[in-house]
Amino acid sequence: MFLNVQFCMIFLVSHVYGYLFPIEPRGPLQGQEWPPGSPWPLPFSWTSTEQLVTFDTATFRIVKNFTGTCEPIDFAIQKYNQGFLFPVYGNGNSSSDPSLPVVAELVVTLSDNEQQNECLQYPKLSDDPETHEHYDLGISVTDNTAIATLEATTVWGALRGIETFSQLIWPNDDYEGQEETHFFANITEIHDKPRFSHRGLMIDSARHYLPERIFYEILDGMMYNKLNVLHWHIVDDQSFPLVSLKFPELSAKGAYNDKAIYTPEAVQRVINGARLRGIRVILEFDTPGHTHGFGRAFPELLTPCYGDGPSGSPDAPNFPEHAGRENLDPTQNYTYNFMREFFTEIAQNVTRDSFIHLGIDEVYMGCWDPSHNPVIADFMIKNGYTDLHQVQEHYTLRHIEMVKSLGLTPISWQDPLDSNVTLDKDVVIQAWKDWGHPWDVQFKVRITDEEKSRILGGEACIWSEFVDKTNIVSRIFPFVSAIGERLWTFDMGIEDMDAANARRRLDQHRCRTLRRGLPVQPILPGYCGRWETENRRRRR
Ligand SMILES: *[C@@H]1O[C@H](CO)[C@@H](O)[C@H](O)[C@H]1NC(C)=O
Ligand SMILES: *[C@@H]1O[C@H](CO)[C@@H](O)[C@H](O)[C@H]1NC(C)=O
Ligand SMILES: *[C@@H]1O[C@H](CO)[C@@H](O)[C@H](O)[C@H]1NC(C)=O
Ligand SMILES: *[C@@H]1O[C@H](CO)[C@@H](O)[C@H](O)[C@H]1NC(C)=O
Ligand SMILES: *[C@@H]1O[C@H](CO)[C@@H](O)[C@H](O)[C@H]1NC(C)=O
Ligand SMILES: *[C@@H]1O[C@H](CO)[C@@H](O)[C@H](O)[C@H]1NC(C)=O
Repeated sequence: MFLNVQFCMIFLVSHVYGYLFPIEPRGPLQGQEWPPGSPWPLPFSWTSTEQLVTFDTATFRIVKNFTGTCEPIDFAIQKYNQGFLFPVYGNGNSSSDPSLPVVAELVVTLSDNEQQNECLQYPKLSDDPETHEHYDLGISVTDNTAIATLEATTVWGALRGIETFSQLIWPNDDYEGQEETHFFANITEIHDKPRFSHRGLMIDSARHYLPERIFYEILDGMMYNKLNVLHWHIVDDQSFPLVSLKFPELSAKGAYNDKAIYTPEAVQRVINGARLRGIRVILEFDTPGHTHGFGRAFPELLTPCYGDGPSGSPDAPNFPEHAGRENLDPTQNYTYNFMREFFTEIAQNVTRDSFIHLGIDEVYMGCWDPSHNPVIADFMIKNGYTDLHQVQEHYTLRHIEMVKSLGLTPISWQDPLDSNVTLDKDVVIQAWKDWGHPWDVQFKVRITDEEKSRILGGEACIWSEFVDKTNIVSRIFPFVSAIGERLWTFDMGIEDMDAANARRRLDQHRCRTLRRGLPVQPILPGYCGRWETENRRRRR
């Protein structure tokens, strides 16, 4: 799945009770209207009534029903208490509605006390997504006393439930004539769990460098959409921003400049920031193609392409298509030894995830064509290879074997399978070649239960040829939300899969995210309420 900015803009919209105030130039917007406080992604089970409760924003707190620290939950409590629950603007005044029961706190319980051990752990891919991130959330009133409870099996489920709770709260202060802000929620019961355990976003920090602060904005946005994997395509042909302590030349010669780098400490800060939000970080080091970044410091790692043929210069490029060298050289042990040392550092000191993405896409086979390249021709003869795909297989299988020996589980783009390389069943394949759809097309992607049994999940991918810190957040959000809901929410039938029905709920989610301070772009004409024009305060 891939993100793209192009989408069909429609401009037939109607007045909506809730966050979005579209202007209706021609006729009513098709599809379902959603009351304020409608969650994104849709929960597995969500029932609510018209009875309301209110909040005293000065005293309301999320609290744990267990003692001791629990970093991810404490972090979430701090963040949500600080403004995600009640983004106040205008004159900053708000109070509870005196006519309604007041919810004093949300009590968070972990049903399995053992799970408190997870508070210090790095999140893992779950083989049982239905309990791993499951939670039950209730807002109820008994004898005019309102209570809110959240029960989860794991820390990670609790994080998902806190996010949903925050989405149930809505303010009145966008309505004409309202002097004072009150915050409300409907009486609600939610039982929720994700459909897939891997719900990712791929970002690329090589085509353009992304400063560290952008990662936290992206991770926040992922948390609002219950995404749980950041796939970090960290290096590529264009640059090598990762600082390796083993091979410092890689970033010294391969980064755009000496500031456009990720130090070991910065990488660990990002991984820890992700962990606190219940998000795993999978690093990608793409080989044997896309390796100019490696080649800037270590040109002898790359195959001379003989762009002029066997009698020409080994390093002759065939510009503008291809460079003089661009794939790793699969014929020499030096390449494999270097990669073993490099990946040993990654396995021991950089990644905290047990999965590693090996790329293996878009290898420029012209460079390895034996009719052009005498080095490859010689290698094929020595090994008894008759077909070029055997050269790719030679590299791929040795590389995968090495990475597995370091205790990592490899992920590859689909390309080796496309060129008939035989892979073990435990290699995870990421399909990517159907791409470029607008959000509403992504939203309608259907995965059958039969297919689901072979699928870990999915990702939205944004390569950064044309994005950098100025536009990446608004390019990702809210489009990634469509993919986020498809991966979280169970297939509940045609109507829930219909983008027209989801559109205004997504726009509500977009306005909610905007109020939390992320520059998310609109999907409809209209405005997010008085907030857009009055004394905007970023509460982050
Ligand atoms: C919440 O209650 C209001 C009326 O008080 C109603 O209009 C709205 O539809 C309800 N929302 C949900 C999600 O049930
Ligand atoms: C915390 O959980 C215990 C055991 O389930 C329960 O007895 C107690 O009432 C809970 N406390 C709060 C504040 O909800
Ligand atoms: C809140 O409202 C009161 C009464 O309208 C006003 O006196 C006060 O200045 C307001 N507070 C802020 C922070 O604007
Ligand atoms: C290259 O490595 C292979 C596999 O480890 C080994 O069999 C071979 O002897 C090595 N070749 C050289 C020239 O060191
Ligand atoms: C990992 O880090 C430790 C401590 O800095 C260092 O001693 C070790 O050599 C590193 N391992 C690798 C493979 O770079
Ligand atoms: C892979 O194998 C299929 C079936 O044998 C064949 O049709 C296809 O051309 C092969 N692809 C490549 C890239 O060799």
